[in-house]
Formats: sequence, C-alpha cells, structure tokens
Amino acid sequence: MAADPVAVQPLPDRVRHRFPILERLVYVNSCSQGALSDAVRDAYEQYLADWDEHGAPWEYWVERTEAARTAFAHLVNADPDEIAVTTSLSAGVSALATGLRYARRSKIVVTDLEFPTIGQIWHAQAARGARVEHVAPADDGTVPLEHFERAIDEDTALVSITHVSYRTGAMTDVEGVVELARERGALVLLDAYQTAGSLPVDVKALGVDFLASGVLKYLLGSAGLAFFYCRRELFERAWPTATGWFADQDIFEMDVHDYSPSPTARRFQSGTPPIPAIYAGIAGIELMEEIGIAETREHVLELNERLIAGVEELGGTVVTPRERKRHGALICIRSTDVDKLVSELGRDGIVTSSRDGNVRVSAHSYNSTDDIDAVLAALARQRALLA
Ligand SMILES: Cc1ncc(COP(=O)(O)O)c(C=O)c1O
Repeated sequence: MAADPVAVQPLPDRVRHRFPILERLVYVNSCSQGALSDAVRDAYEQYLADWDEHGAPWEYWVERTEAARTAFAHLVNADPDEIAVTTSLSAGVSALATGLRYARRSKIVVTDLEFPTIGQIWHAQAARGARVEHVAPADDGTVPLEHFERAIDEDTALVSITHVSYRTGAMTDVEGVVELARERGALVLLDAYQTAGSLPVDVKALGVDFLASGVLKYLLGSAGLAFFYCRRELFERAWPTATGWFADQDIFEMDVHDYSPSPTARRFQSGTPPIPAIYAGIAGIELMEEIGIAETREHVLELNERLIAGVEELGGTVVTPRERKRHGALICIRSTDVDKLVSELGRDGIVTSSRDGNVRVSAHSYNSTDDIDAVLAALARQRALLA
C-alpha cells in the first residue's frame, strides 16, 4: 500500500498554510508572539458574530471560560479546578503573592533570568514583610543547582523560577530545584510562558506547586488571556488580596458585605474574564494540539541544531546552551549592535527580536529549514554585527 502522503510531509509543510504571514515574511519571533492563524482570526470573527446575534450571551461566554480552564488543565496535566483563568501571567502571580503570608518564612528566591514582572511582583511584597534574594546565572547562561542550594534555606517561603529564560533561552533544571525546595520546605512557582505550547509541560512530572503561563506565544493565541495553576493541596494556603468577584466562592451571590474566596484555584482570578481573548486562546490551543506539541518540540530542536551550527560557522556566539535538554525554542545570538541587526534582518523580511544585546530567533512548528537558512544567509551578510 502506498504511504499516506500527508503523514510523510514534513511538519511545516502540513501547517504553514494556516498562517498567512508566512507567505510574506520569515517569522522567527514566536518568543514574543505566535503567528496569526486562520483559526484565531475566525475565532475573533465568531466572537463578534455571537455578540451581534445574541446581544450578551453570558451563559455561553461563561461556558467558554470553563472550556478555556479545561483546555489549560489538559495542557499541563492538571485538573480544571486547579486552574485560574487570568488576563495575564502577572495577574495570577500577583494574586498568589498577595495571598501568601511572610511572617514564618519571609524569603522569596528569584533568579536573574526571570521576566521583570516576576521580580517586580515579589519585590512589591517587601511592604508585607517578604525578602527577595536573587540568584545569578553562571557564565554559561544557566543557573546551576549549587547557586540555588546556597539561596534556599529554612526561611524560604517560595522559589520563583522560569522554565526557559526570555533573556538567554536557557532551560532551568526544574526537577532539581523542586527537589532542593522540597527538602527545605519551600514552595516552587514556575513561569512557563516560554515553554507552554513549544514542548510538553506536565505539572505532576515537574513537581511544581504553582505554574503561570499565557497564550500569546507558542500557544498561538493573543494578548489578554493567561492561566495560573495551583496544586490542589495548596488551595487554602493563599488568601489573595488582589481579587475580584470572579474569584468569589459564589459569583452569582453578588454579596457586597463579604470576601469569601473560592475553595479552588479560581480564587486567583479577578474580574470579568477576557471573552474575546478566550475565543482566540481556545482556537490557538486547539490548533496547537492538532499540530502536536511533542512533534513541534522535536522539529524545533532539529532547526535549532542547524541554526547553532550555522552561527558558529559564521564565527558568531550563541548565548543559549547547546545541549538539547538545556534550551527551549528560543536561541539567543550575541551582537555588537543588536538594534541594527534586528532592523537589518527586518529589511530582509526576517522578523526577530532582541534582549540584552542578543538577537532572539525562536522557531515554531511552522518554520522550515528554508527559514533557518534564510536567517543564516542574512546573518552572513551582517557578519560584522555578530560578536
Ligand atoms: C517568561 C515570561 N514571563 C512573563 C511574561 C509576561 O507575562 P504577562 O505580560 O502576561 O504578565 C513574558 C512575556 O513576554 C515572558 O516571556
């Protein structure tokens, strides 16, 4: 029997037609935002059509919010009641930070590889008695376990780590940190914004207590929708003071005289859910599940190997660790003038971004070896801007 021609097609050939921008540009900036798909565009149109047709179909919109909760739960191997549907990663983490008490254990351990919002949220808790200790990376761009070992102690309430750093592309040894934290009685929060959708994320396998992420990047959704996971045993540990009526134990009671947070992770929510972004987010997640997250991970690792080898051949410096299990989708390349390099690549129709003097190249399921070769050819033309 002849082989199924669809099954043997390379992944990008199967999915590229869903993303119109790829007809015009080499889009390797999914670490900032995923490419717009036909499914997500249709979802926004559906939102407007439903609004137009039904007026205020809140019953359906609440049901869509629950569908988003279920989709997030499925994505990270949690139960739906362990998930809060939030409007940003920051909103979920802030709800947690305002809900913890810092009297018995006051220290929060934060790495210097975190997204700024994480440091800012924890430092804001200094007013409530929290003490933030920063853990610096080593020269290779990763934070070795020894650095955590020195920082996590009997006074540590929580360790706040990023799965993959937005700055360097380095992947944290999450299981190693969780083990250290457990030994010393500390909780662990994982920022999975740079991994959710780009590789399988399993809260049970990782052993984390809390996880926050959003749909803007590898989950192919858009701004305004994020989620927060809380391990069931910890629901009652936090009493969020950044809150709102959708966090209440009974949303429909409309009780203005009392604050009784939901007994589930919904206590980390706030006000009206972001309905338009929920339509888009569900479409993005469903598309990503159809494409296949595990297959995307394998595909992007291959592309990254090609990219790293090519950059090194050009005499450039890759800041991201080379080892497969030490990086995510994002590869960071050092430049002598990163703004110029990003703009020169842009002139060649290549969309990238930058942080810390590094150009960031982040591939997805829809990127092909041709895309990587186009990036390498453009970098060769700009070799003088490589450090
Ligand atoms: C690792 C990481 N964490 C957090 C954020 C920001 O999340 P939010 O704006 O939803 O709070 C980003 C976004 O760029 C990110 O890359």
